[in-house]
Order: sequence, then C-alpha cells, then structure tokens
Amino acid sequence: MKFFIDTANLNEIKEAHDLGVLDGVTTNPSLMAKEGITGKKNILNHYLEICKIVDGDVSAEVISTDFDGMVKEGKELAKLDDKITVKIPMTKDGVKACKYFSSNGIKTNVTLVFSAGQALIAAKAGAKYVSPFLGRLDDISTDGLNLIEEIRIIYDNYLFDTNILAASIRHPMHIINCAKIGADVITSPLSSIMGLIKHPLTDIGLEKFLSDYKKGNK
Ligand code: G3P
Repeated sequence: MKFFIDTANLNEIKEAHDLGVLDGVTTNPSLMAKEGITGKKNILNHYLEICKIVDGDVSAEVISTDFDGMVKEGKELAKLDDKITVKIPMTKDGVKACKYFSSNGIKTNVTLVFSAGQALIAAKAGAKYVSPFLGRLDDISTDGLNLIEEIRIIYDNYLFDTNILAASIRHPMHIINCAKIGADVITSPLSSIMGLIKHPLTDIGLEKFLSDYKKGNK
C-alpha cells in the first residue's frame, strides 16, 4: 500500500518524506490556496518545489473545466516534471481528457469520485489513479468505505490497472480500513499518518524500559 500526503505544505511534505514512508503527494486548488500559493507562475513553481522533495507521483489539478482547456493545462503541468500526475475532475470533459492523456503517455488522477460507476468510467478511460472521497461521503452519512470495497471488486473482476487512491481521509482508522479492503494508495493529512504511530502502551512500555535501565546503570 502506498502512502501519499494530501497537502501543499512543504514542511509537512518534508516531515513525511523524512519519516521514510512517503510515496507521493496529492494537491488540489483548495490546498494550494490554503498555503497562500496564488497565480499561475507561483503555482507551477510550487509544484517544482514539491517534486524536488518527493520520490513519487505528485498530483497537480487542472482548473479548466472544458476538454481543450484541460488538455492544454495538463500538458503544461506534465512538462514540469516526470513525477507530475494530471488531476482531472470526474466530468464528461474530464473523462475525455483522461482518455486523451492516457493515450498520450501522461499520468492521470481522476478526482471527485463518489460512486462505483464513476470509478468504472475512470478506469475505462485509462486513469492511473481514481480518487474516491471517503471522508466527504462519511460527512453526509454515506458509507465511504463501502464505495472503496465496490471499486476493489469491480477493478479485480476485470483486472483494471487503475490504482484506487483513497482520498479525503479524516483519521487513522480510515487508513487501516482502506488497508484491510485493499486500496492501492491512501492520500492523507500528515496528522492521520502520524496517528498510526502513537499508542499509549508503547509510551508506558518505553518509559518503564528506560527507568529500569537507569536503575540498573547508576
Ligand atoms: O485532495 C482531495 C481530497 O483528499 C480532499 O479531502 O478533506 O477536503 O475532503 P477533504
């Protein structure tokens, strides 16, 4: 299972990278805006900065909503670095753009996926990644994990090589449950990744080991 971090914050990306478990990065226009990165030139430069840190795919989302605009923007993004994966919304034009990119050797991540049907179409269009939004479904009292399960079954039935990239992760249990179901990738805030490490019994046990060591080595 691959671990991506869902942020445009360079310090958080460095922290996850330094931990040694980072396989990639996903961003979106909201995450870029959160870091105060605005204007085309600054946004493109920021992607380059991210690519310098991470050894793996970096999703960069298009702003255009029409096919021609997505293709133009996506080509420009893909030219920045081999790590760039063009992130496209799950719309009719997005599906067409996905097919165009996959036929022309450009990696894609189809985002804003909320149903198994959308995930099936993304795979048919040759997406490298499909991003079902787990947390946002949970937020509206719909079982996000059930969607990941459905997509796993469909992709396994037909040996689609599109990777299930579980997105909109809210907490460590989302990551654990995605791992049980067999999501190929999770993209998560740093806090949820760090949450996997912590356990009170580990802290208590370590404290005891160290105090016993000190007693024996006075
Ligand atoms: O990057 C897409 C997705 O992970 C967004 O998550 O927390 O805004 O629902 P969230």
